[in-house]
Amino acid sequence: MLLLVALLLLCNSTVGNVCCSRNQENSVDLHALLDFQRGITKDPQGALSNWSTTTHFCRWNGIACTTTRPFRVEQLNLPGLNLQGKITSSLGNLTFLYLLDLSYNSFAGTFPILNHAQQLQYLFVNNNSLTGIIPDALSNCSSLLSMDFSLNLLVGAFPPKIGFPPSLIYINFESNQLDGSIPNEIGQLQNLESLVLGDNRLSGQFPHAIFNLSASLRVLSLEKNMLGKTLPPNFGYLLPNLKNLSLYGNMFEGHIPASLGNALGLQLIDLSSNKFTGKIPKL
Ligand SMILES: *[C@@H]1O[C@H](CO)[C@@H](O)[C@H](O)[C@H]1NC(C)=O
Ligand SMILES: *[C@@H]1O[C@H](CO)[C@@H](O)[C@H](O)[C@H]1NC(C)=O
Ligand SMILES: *[C@@H]1O[C@H](CO)[C@@H](O)[C@H](O)[C@H]1NC(C)=O
Ligand SMILES: *[C@@H]1O[C@H](CO)[C@@H](O)[C@H](O)[C@H]1NC(C)=O
Ligand SMILES: *[C@@H]1O[C@H](CO)[C@@H](O)[C@H](O)[C@H]1NC(C)=O
Ligand SMILES: *[C@@H]1O[C@H](CO)[C@@H](O)[C@H](O)[C@H]1NC(C)=O
Repeated sequence: MLLLVALLLLCNSTVGNVCCSRNQENSVDLHALLDFQRGITKDPQGALSNWSTTTHFCRWNGIACTTTRPFRVEQLNLPGLNLQGKITSSLGNLTFLYLLDLSYNSFAGTFPILNHAQQLQYLFVNNNSLTGIIPDALSNCSSLLSMDFSLNLLVGAFPPKIGFPPSLIYINFESNQLDGSIPNEIGQLQNLESLVLGDNRLSGQFPHAIFNLSASLRVLSLEKNMLGKTLPPNFGYLLPNLKNLSLYGNMFEGHIPASLGNALGLQLIDLSSNKFTGKIPKL
């Protein structure tokens, strides 16, 4: 009799385990998401109300998974939901994640180091209340195409080692409190199309390494900083594909490069509120 009960118990628990592992077959992803959920202190719209282990995490709000087994998290998409709390480093365990969009929320604290997120392509955490520095360790996200940290409270230098992966196409750090100069290593990002760094406290001279991006760079937005000194006369020839150039509200001086008139693709140019002499070329 006792044996029978024991057998029944064993059976039950085995079935339970099988059930569990079938339901939540990737426990690394499950634990990473549950850890992220624990980091959220306020969810006024109930955005995570169906984040419960009674359903597979691939069916939770904001999650998209691979369509074949083993089902892995590819997207964590929770913009504009008034979420409060911190972003946990456990998200770095989502090794299939390619889109992380937590923009337009109220996440605070520092942005974590995402150790194994090597598939991450899109990282949007703009318009939150993130503090601290932008981690150099993003260099390990070797597939990164776009990152938007704008409208936060980030401080410190532009990630100094800028070990950023050369895959990057879009960088937006606008409206933070970054200081120091723009590092020369920026010139290694040979695919960079948009560099948006306005409304910070960046200083030093115009980073000449940017001219290394002549083939790719289309949008350069450095307005409302403390950048200074002169621009080279051949500026317009050095960045022939530039469409938007915004340098207003800095301390640039000397002649406005006449060659800007030759940059035929320019759609927007704002050099106002500097100490330039000469005329702004007509587009
Ligand atoms: C969880 O909520 C989202 C958004 O409301 C919905 O699309 C999804 O089907 C829900 N999942 C389950 C298992 O109810
Ligand atoms: C990542 O997953 C491993 C298990 O695979 C676990 O030991 C570790 O604590 C997780 N890291 C984080 C930051 O959650
Ligand atoms: C940032 O988000 C808040 C709501 O969270 C919104 O009120 C504000 O307009 C947003 N700022 C910008 C510049 O989009
Ligand atoms: C980056 O990845 C390498 C190899 O995978 C690892 O040794 C290193 O610790 C990682 N760096 C950071 C900052 O995560
Ligand atoms: C310019 O780009 C080349 C690759 O085309 C790279 O080797 C070099 O380090 C870059 N120079 C600077 C100053 O970033
Ligand atoms: C570039 O300038 C045009 C014209 O003002 C504007 O419509 C567009 O939004 C700008 N693009 C970026 C990425 O700043």
